[in-house]
Amino acid sequence: MTDYKNKAQSHEIRPRRMAFDTDSPMRRYTFDNNALISTFFYALSAMFPDGERFFIHSVRNYQKDIDDPQLLAQIRGFIGQEAHHGHSHEALNEAIQALGFPMDEVTAHMKKRIEMLKRVFGRGRQLALTVAMEHFTASLAEFLLKHPQVLDDTDPTIRKMLIWHAVEEIEHKAVAFDVYRLQVGREFMRKRVMVVAMISLFARIAYFQYRMLRVQRYWPSLREWLGAWRFFWGKQGILRENLRSLRLFFRTGFHPWDIDQHDLIENWQERHPDVAALQSN
Ligand SMILES: [Fe+2]
Ligand SMILES: [Fe+2]
Repeated sequence: MTDYKNKAQSHEIRPRRMAFDTDSPMRRYTFDNNALISTFFYALSAMFPDGERFFIHSVRNYQKDIDDPQLLAQIRGFIGQEAHHGHSHEALNEAIQALGFPMDEVTAHMKKRIEMLKRVFGRGRQLALTVAMEHFTASLAEFLLKHPQVLDDTDPTIRKMLIWHAVEEIEHKAVAFDVYRLQVGREFMRKRVMVVAMISLFARIAYFQYRMLRVQRYWPSLREWLGAWRFFWGKQGILRENLRSLRLFFRTGFHPWDIDQHDLIENWQERHPDVAALQSN
């Protein structure tokens, strides 16, 4: 057994049922009262449910071709976790929509886009796209678990949902990758799809943010622009840290567990007892 498999299989991938309170009222710009940071997370949340159903679909395309029982168990864990994420974010998206943000518009856009991807991309390329997005979400997750204080002034339900989501994203970060390596294995396609995926993701997020602010007829203040710059690109900025791990993805032979994030997910319940308390299974 190769070393990466040892590392990846040292923890169980277990879907957790969580009881989030998405009915409680939220501040319109819940992240530090900053419209640019808030709409970034709202756009991501709007993209998650359909995006995650697509990730499941792209892995399921290969499920019947896998006979390694450990990987099959991990695939089942991955599917269960992503399905729960989708449902939780759907409930959250309704709450954000109630604040007047056009979440249904984003969702409709995503549905159309994903139907198109399923028609145009072969199953190998679909899986490469999932691998790329899983790397992105695991890097985002690492940031949030390393610096949970950035969520201190955020709606408690969103904060708890993001922490739980982040833990599970790291737990299952290598599943789609291992299926890809086993069944597709094309290194150049893995890297090329990442480039296209990131350009298209950020263009889409920016467009969705623009739509949300446009519908609200809101123009962010200088304080918000500066705050957002620090949050995304500052010394410990979320995207700056993301770029670092993105660079590693382009190394030939890269595996997600080359980035050791075990200490972020081990005993997470002790660091986030209020999140762990919501688990019902
Ligand atoms: Fe997820
Ligand atoms: Fe994921």
